[in-house]
Parts: sequence; C-alpha cells; structure tokens
Amino acid sequence: MKILGIETSCDETAAAVVTDAREVLSDLVLSQLDAHRLFGGVVPEIAARAHIDHLDRLIAESMAEAGLGFEALDGVAATAGPGLIGAVMVGLMTGKAIAAARGIPLIAVNHLEGHALSIRLVEELAFPYLLLLVSGGHCQLLAVLGVGRYRRLGTTIDDAVGEAFDKAAKLLGLGFPGGPALERAALTGNPVRFDLPRPLLGRPGADFSFSGLKTALRHRVEELVEELGEAAFEDPTRADLAASFQAAVGDVLIDRTRNALRMVEGLGSNALVVAGGVAANRYLRARLEGLSAERAVRLLLPPLKLCTDNAAMIAWAGIERLEAGLTDRLDVAPRARWPLDPDAEAPQGAGAPGRLGAKA
Ligand code: KG4
Ligand code: ZN
Repeated sequence: MKILGIETSCDETAAAVVTDAREVLSDLVLSQLDAHRLFGGVVPEIAARAHIDHLDRLIAESMAEAGLGFEALDGVAATAGPGLIGAVMVGLMTGKAIAAARGIPLIAVNHLEGHALSIRLVEELAFPYLLLLVSGGHCQLLAVLGVGRYRRLGTTIDDAVGEAFDKAAKLLGLGFPGGPALERAALTGNPVRFDLPRPLLGRPGADFSFSGLKTALRHRVEELVEELGEAAFEDPTRADLAASFQAAVGDVLIDRTRNALRMVEGLGSNALVVAGGVAANRYLRARLEGLSAERAVRLLLPPLKLCTDNAAMIAWAGIERLEAGLTDRLDVAPRARWPLDPDAEAPQGAGAPGRLGAKA
C-alpha cells in the first residue's frame, strides 16, 4: 500500500510517500522560517499563501523521488486540522483534488494523530502507550489506546511549551525560533541563580501552564535591565536566565508526565513516547530519561525529522486509518480546532476557557 501524505497545518509545507511496509519513499519538508522571521512568529496569512506557492511543486517532487505516478497511489492523506485554518485548507483541498481526479480514498488526518502514531512508523510498538506531545503549537499528554482512540490526560491552559521557549528567547534577545537558541544559551548557565515559578507543580492532574513562568521571566529581565543596563543581555546573566528558565520548564514537564504515567498505570502501558519539536532539547531529553528510569518505563523518541512537523507521519496515520477501514468523504471540512479526545474536559485555569485554540 502506498500513500501520499500532505501537511500544511502551520508553517511547514510537506509532502511524503510512505508504504505499509514502513518504507519512506520520499519525505520533503519546506520550512517557511525565513518568511516569518521578520515578525518574530508565524503569520497565518503568510503561511497560507506560502503553502499555495509551494505545495504543488513539493508534491510533484515527492512523487518523482518516490519514482511513482499518481496512478500507483492507494490513497491520499492530508492534514485536516487542527491548525491555522487558511493553511489547513490549502493542503486538504489539494488532497481532495488528487483523490477526486484519481478516484482513490481520501484520509483526513488529525495532525495530532499524525504525531501520536509516528513512533509506529519506526518501531514495533503495541497500543496502549503514553504520548507527551511538546511543540510550538501543542502541549499535551495523551493515552494512545488505538487508531482513532485517544484519551487526553492533560493539556496546556495557556501557552504551548515550544511557544514558551520562543517567547522567553525573544525576551532574552536570542532570535527566532527560540527553542534551539535558548538551549544553546543555557549550556553555560547556572540553572539555580534565578528562582522562577513552576506553574501547577505538585498539583493533581496532568495539565500544563507556562504563561506565569514567562511573565516572571519578563519581570526578572526588566529588573536586571534597570540594575545592569545592557549587561543583562550578556553572559553570564543571559546564560543564567536561560538555564533557570529551562530548568523550570523541565521540572514542570517531569512533574506532569509523572502524574500522567500514574494515570495510565492501570491500562497496561509501559512506554512513554515523546514527540514534537521540543523533543529535540537535550536537557529535557536527559530529564525524561531520568523519569523513565525512575518509573521503569521505556522511553521512545522518534528520530528528529519525524518529531517536528512532517508529512511522513501524516501518510503513516493515513495508512493506519485505511487499514482500519477509516476513510473520509470529499466534503470533509477543515478544522481549526479538533481535539483528538472529544470527551476531554476543558482544562481549568486562568487561561481557560476561550483561549485554548489549536494548542488544546
Ligand atoms: O514540532 P515543531 O517543529 O512545530 C510545531 O510547533 O508544530 O516545533 C517547533 C517548536 C518551536 O517552538 C521551537 O522553538 C521548539 O519546537 N524547539 C525547541 C527546540 N527545538 C525546537 N524547544 C526547546 N529546545 C529545543 N532544542
Ligand atoms: Zn505538529
């Protein structure tokens, strides 16, 4: 079985061809980082237009690299949400057009399901397992029970963790995207010099919150600028701020994930899967390794290319859904919000309700 995957939910335009034998025949990702850098964040309208400019060519290249014509495809899987609505529409409409023209099944994939199942493209991992999804747009803990079967254990009540890294990096003058820059800056820093808050630490449940941490960091930076002037943005102070921030994030992630592991204990899961761009962070990986040893669970991290947004994971989710007999009609609608677990309660907290958006 060969499936074309299409991903356009945020600022990556991506196309890939994957087989049910776990072969990735092509896997192309075009990042729009340069288009958004000027604005210090992703601009929805620019993202949608950039997808329109590049998607057709990227799909053609992806098919050529796979050595296939469209007649060889068994289906088209396109991300149908959650995400920036204009951006999602571009990929979903393109997927529909190919499915209609070739008379092959369309699989409308939830982007989060793509992340949730991506590990199974590279590992023989049985259900159920716990997923920690940490990216610029998402911050969730999910029990992955089967294809199309998810229980959300926790989500962020305000910012996603990658977003928190990006905002903190901006505050420290480290540029965009901030996650990798902040990790680098923190390498030489003292993580206990600044005492920053750990939102929700020690509280029951597995929800996250990062806006209080971000605000505390901003206040600390303002105080330091008054005290030290521009030297606040020089090392060692900047490195110490970065390291203290990263340590606070690490404490929160570990505490919440530990609670979620307890919550899934009765389900017979003994694996923790971490996906999303923030999974690239070496410090956080080391902390999660510590937790997996403490709780005697297997820690699985998909290769980085599969962790960040890509179309191979969408194609793979399409294969899993097609094998389960789950396809979609051509009038399926794109969705800005689309929780994987429809029964999930809205998280309680200062940021809720109404501000959850795609992150929830
Ligand atoms: O999964 P991803 O590529 O895109 C989505 O947001 O869906 O994740 C990108 C996010 C950005 O917020 C970026 O700053 C963060 O992941 N990130 C990191 C690191 N590398 C990427 N955050 C912390 N440390 C890193 N090394
Ligand atoms: Zn993503």
